[in-house]
Amino acid sequence: SLYTYVNQDTCIACGACGATAPDIFDYDEMGVAFNVIDDNKGVAKIPHHLTEDLEDAFDGCPTESINITNQPLYKMALKDD
Ligand code: F3S
Repeated sequence: SLYTYVNQDTCIACGACGATAPDIFDYDEMGVAFNVIDDNKGVAKIPHHLTEDLEDAFDGCPTESINITNQPLYKMALKDD
């Protein structure tokens, strides 16, 4: 299984990932992307039928901000100003 999250520190809000994989990625009010399936925690399995969309989004991100792992990520949710 695959898991994904966006590195929101490096995302430049280019808008590519949500166009490529609209069932996985959306944008916050600043246009910064996040994984809508698990609120960008990287802990929920990406449904198998979305694998190709995920890989296309990964390949298309100009800043390599999309991370794909094969283990759930237990990540601190840091919301600094
Ligand atoms: Fe950001 Fe990359 Fe998506 S720059 S908007 S994560 S394609």
